[in-house]
Amino acid sequence: KKILLLNGPNLNLLGQREPGIYGSETLEVLESHVKKIGNTNGIEVTCFQSNHEGALIDQLHEANALRFDGVILNPGAFTHYSYAIRDAIAAIDVPVIEVHISNVHAREEFRHHSVISAVTRGQIVGLGIRGYELAVYALKD
Ligand code: DQA
Repeated sequence: KKILLLNGPNLNLLGQREPGIYGSETLEVLESHVKKIGNTNGIEVTCFQSNHEGALIDQLHEANALRFDGVILNPGAFTHYSYAIRDAIAAIDVPVIEVHISNVHAREEFRHHSVISAVTRGQIVGLGIRGYELAVYALKD
């Protein structure tokens, strides 16, 4: 199996960005950790991060064209208002699992709603970077 780990805006700053909310682990460490979990479970993990909406959409289309088995997606703030990312998820056959590091429901009002949840296979919220790991297990099964 092969899955895509897709992180959106500002997640390149993991580790230094509001560590009280997002933890002290860097994106690099997170990606190598998820790759390792994938490897030990027979899954090849490809990682991509972008601060640009269109680049994330291109990656979703690409994952579909290349017949990936799943996408783990943290769209950052795009979660709350990107109908374009929502439409991209709806347009592809690959199952997408939405992950948020922080408990968005315990934060500002604008973070309580996700415009992509209705078209994702499932959502993992508030479990820190462990959420990405759990998403790998979910896609494996
Ligand atoms: C986030 C939550 C979003 O509200 C925020 O804009 C992010 C990260 C999370 O992982 O908790 O950038 O998706």
